[in-house]
This record gives sequence, C-alpha cells and structure tokens, in this order.
Amino acid sequence: MNYPIWYLPSTGGGFLIALIAILHVFVSHFAVGAGLYLIYAEKKGLRENSQGILSFTKRHARFFLLITMVFGSITGVGIWFIIALVNPAATSLLIHNFVFGWAAEWVFFTVEIAAAFVYFYMFGRMDSATHLKVGWLYFGAAWMSLFLINGIIGVMLTPGAWAENMDFWVGFFNPSFFPSLFFRTFIAIMLAACYGYLSASFTRDTEVRTAMTRFSAGWALVALAAAIPAGIWYLAALPGEAHSLVMGKSPTIAAVLPPAAGGLVVFLAVMLGAGIFRPSLNLKPVAGVAMVSALLVMGGFEWTREAARRPYVINEVMYSNSIMKNDIAALNEKGYLRSALWVENRDPAGAGRSEAGRELFIQQCYACHTVKGRNNDIVKATANMSYRALVNYLAKIHETRYFMPPFAGTEDERKALAAYIAGDLHGKDAGEPEEALTADDQGRILFEENCSSCHVPDDLAAPLEGQGKNEIVELLGKLNEISEEMSPFAGTAEEGESLAGFLDSLNKGE
Ligand code: HEC
Ligand code: HEC
Repeated sequence: MNYPIWYLPSTGGGFLIALIAILHVFVSHFAVGAGLYLIYAEKKGLRENSQGILSFTKRHARFFLLITMVFGSITGVGIWFIIALVNPAATSLLIHNFVFGWAAEWVFFTVEIAAAFVYFYMFGRMDSATHLKVGWLYFGAAWMSLFLINGIIGVMLTPGAWAENMDFWVGFFNPSFFPSLFFRTFIAIMLAACYGYLSASFTRDTEVRTAMTRFSAGWALVALAAAIPAGIWYLAALPGEAHSLVMGKSPTIAAVLPPAAGGLVVFLAVMLGAGIFRPSLNLKPVAGVAMVSALLVMGGFEWTREAARRPYVINEVMYSNSIMKNDIAALNEKGYLRSALWVENRDPAGAGRSEAGRELFIQQCYACHTVKGRNNDIVKATANMSYRALVNYLAKIHETRYFMPPFAGTEDERKALAAYIAGDLHGKDAGEPEEALTADDQGRILFEENCSSCHVPDDLAAPLEGQGKNEIVELLGKLNEISEEMSPFAGTAEEGESLAGFLDSLNKGE
C-alpha cells in the first residue's frame, strides 16, 4: 500500500516470480551440488587412472560453468528484479533487516565464481592435489551461499520470535533453518547428479558413459534417500497453520502435489532402471525425462514452500498484499483508501464506488488472484456469489479461509469491493436491498457465502434428500467429517437454521 502496484490482470505477478524462481533454484542448487560432484568425479578418474573419466569431468565442468554462470546469474538477478517490482514492500523489509546477510552472500558468490573459473581453466594444467583444493574452495563457498540465503528465505516461512523482536540472529537461525539446510543440501546433490546423468548421456565412449551413468544414478538415489527424512523433519518444523496448509488445507498446494509426486516416481524409475540396472538405457531422451521430472519435484517443493506462507509473504508480519499484520486494526478504523499512498479514489461510497472497489481489488486481492487469467481467476472464484453474499464473505474471509488475508478497511470499502466484483466483473445487481431480507433470502445468501465456491445448490439436493431440517442443522456442524476440504459451518445458531431451511427447501420443489 506504500508502493504503486504493477498490475497485469490476467498474468499476476506471483506467477512471474514463480516462473523465474523455479528455473533459478533448479540451476542454483545444481551449482552447489555440482561442486561436490565434480570433486568426486575427478577423484574417481584419478583413482582409476582413467583419462576418459577425467575428460568427462572436464567437459561436465564446462557445461556446469556455462549453465551456472550464465543462466544461473541472469535468473538470480532476474529474481531481485521481479520481486522488487511485484512486492517492493516485502523486498524492502527483508533488505533492511538482513542487509549484512545478503552482503556476506555476495562475498561468497565472488569467491565461488572465481574458484569455478580457476577450476575449469586450470583443469589438467595444475597438479591434481591443488586442483582438487580449488574444487573444495568452490564447493565451500557455494554451500556457504546456500547457508546464508537459507536463513533469509526461511524467516519468511517460519519467523519464530523474529516476528516480534526483529533480531537478526533470531530470524536467521529460525525454526526451519537446519531442516531446510539439510534438505536443500541433499536436493542440491541430487540435482547435481541428475545433471551429471544428462552429461553422461552425451558421452560417446561407452565405457565412460556406463561408469558415469551408474556413478550419477547412485549419487542421485543416495541423496534422495537422505532428503526424505530431512523433508519430514522440515515438515515437522512448520508451525500449525503452515503444516495444515501443506497437509491438504491449501488448494494451491493440493494442485501441485500430483505432478510433483509423479515427477518423483519417474525420477526414481529412471535412476534405478536406466541408471543402476541398465546404464546402457541412458539415452538423451531418457536423460531429458529425468531432468523434467527433477524439475517437477523441485518446482513442487518451491511452490509448496511459497504457498505454505499464505496469507503472508513474510509469515506473521506482512500479508501477501503488502499489508502489515499490525496495521489491519488501524486500517479498519481509518479506511484503507484514505491510508494507502497510491490510490486515486479515496471515497468508497460516492459515485466512484465501483472504481474504488476496483482499486481495492488491485491492492488487496490481486497479489493472489488474476482477472480472467489462468491462475486463481477471481471471476471464476466468485461466479456463484451475489453482491450481498460477497459483502458478508469479505467480513470473515480470513476466518473461513485462513490462506486469505483479512479484508483491510471499513464496511463501505467492503461494499465497494463487492460492488466491483458482482457489478463490474459479473454484471450482477450490486445495489443495497430496498426491503428487509426474508428468511429464505437469508438462507440463500448464507449458502452463496459459505458453500457456493465449491457447490451449486442443485448438487446438494440429492444427497440431502430425505433428511429433515434438524438433521441438516446437525450435519452443518460436522461438515469436516464428510470431506477434509470443508470446515464445520461457523455461523450463529440462527444462521444455521436459515441455511438448513434453504437446503431443506431444495427438495421441496421450490
Ligand atoms: C494470499 C493469497 C490470496 C489473497 C490475497 C486473496 N485470495 Fe482469494 N483465494 C486464494 C486462494 C489460494 C483461493 C482458493 C482457490 C482454489 O480453491 O483453488 C482463493 C479463493 C477465493 C474465493 C473462492 C471461495 C473460497 O472460499 O474458496 C473467493 C471468493 C476469493 N478468493 C476472494 C478473494 C478476495 C475478494 C480477495 C481480496 C480481498 C482475495 N480473495 C484475496 C488466495 C488469496
Ligand atoms: C472448499 C470447498 C467446499 C466448501 C466451501 C463446501 N464444501 Fe461441501 N463438499 C466439498 C467436498 C470436496 C465434498 C466431498 C466430495 C463430494 O462428495 O462432492 C463435499 C461434500 C458435501 C456434502 C455431501 C455431498 C455428497 O455428495 O454426499 C454436503 C451435503 C456438503 N458438502 C455440504 C456443504 C455445505 C452446506 C457447505 C456450506 C456450508 C459446503 N458443503 C461447503 C467441498 C466443499
């Protein structure tokens, strides 16, 4: 709210960040793990006195240098570029709190880059013992950059006491620091092995190819096996809300789990089948499949980690829409439009009501919702809701759906936003009702507010057939027993009666 918003209605900034970030981490973890991989590949060549393996290692080092130094660096800068544009407030808050962490990271980057160049250009031109030391120097610096960035990224998900005291070290060594560090280290080795597997598929010398395919697949499997307990430990370190989002409460996370799990199965199958048992099957397309499946696993993990923070961008401190948790009460009091710096309409009730509503959408919802885009389209999400249902829905949006921030603003502002969504986006009636609501209207609105995002009334008629109103009231209190996705109806007893009345009427041919 203190910065202008870069509004791309059908794309969404979050999607751009995800795209760049996932490609970046796929390369940056490779950059860390490859340090270790190259050292041990070189040692293997030396030990077995194999010129073939040594020249494989050198070729792989060249590929590694190109990918990490060109693609890795560009996407790394790209992340800074995109986060600063999409969420300047969060970027600024992290820079102000962790500037020495970032600075230290950049020092290690410099060491890392210098060591990588020396490693490649001096391959075979230096005595091997010194050359291996350069490899270790590279790996040490690369791993330290992971160590540092891991602390800062971790605080966004599990701030612990930092959310209160903003103490550098408390934030840096946050509750998920160590599990995440171990997990990422193993994933880095696994990815490096996968890139090695890819390199091996390009090797003409069959003997070297077989040896390096087996070597890579072995590393990948061991690293993966080590990553699993680390991942479980990581999951256990998540605070209650994030944990339940990961375990099924977040539709965003539930959506990426199948492709990520599929990727994991394919990856395992390729490494075992076309790595350990039949290395001769390591053909270029097979290695390509392994890379894609590893990307799915990595992408699924990063996506989950990002979505597990919701509704926050920095857990317990700043919501995804850049509003500070501690500012909500004041904004409800004073009005959001009057407090925000970059809005044109400051009056939610006047002639510009739905224009003001549009601005409120951009400021508060666009961080996660597109307008007619592929990703979490607000038009689809609200298709079955009327103006009045939306007004009520917004009043308790965070209570019913934890992963969305509370609406920040006055009642007039809530109405303006509902008017924009129902009126401008859907062309529905967005006026205030003339007369008082009948009990029937009340029930229908409660349905739209609480159930319509997942059900249309007609679908519930059959399952509720033969149940009396009282049974339905009872059922509403234990919806969670029907499906994990539902929570028990949280309205008052009176509201429960109205809603049950509405549901009951579905089977009465009304
Ligand atoms: C932090 C991210 C985030 C923000 C900010 C956010 N939403 Fe959502 N919203 C979601 C997610 C995730 C879903 C679930 C999508 C799904 O079911 O696939 C959702 C679903 C919805 C739904 C469908 C009903 C439901 O309960 O699932 C509505 C309506 C909705 N959002 C309205 C809004 C409005 C209005 C705002 C702005 C005041 C907003 N959202 C802000 C993430 C967000
Ligand atoms: C977040 C999505 C979601 C919301 C919101 C939701 N439900 Fe459901 N509901 C489900 C899912 C998922 C199922 C189980 C799958 C199915 O049977 O369709 C289900 C099943 C049901 C069933 C059993 C249907 C059957 O076929 O046996 C009833 C009854 C029901 N819901 C009522 C409600 C009522 C009433 C509300 C509003 C107070 C509500 N639901 C809100 C997702 C939701």
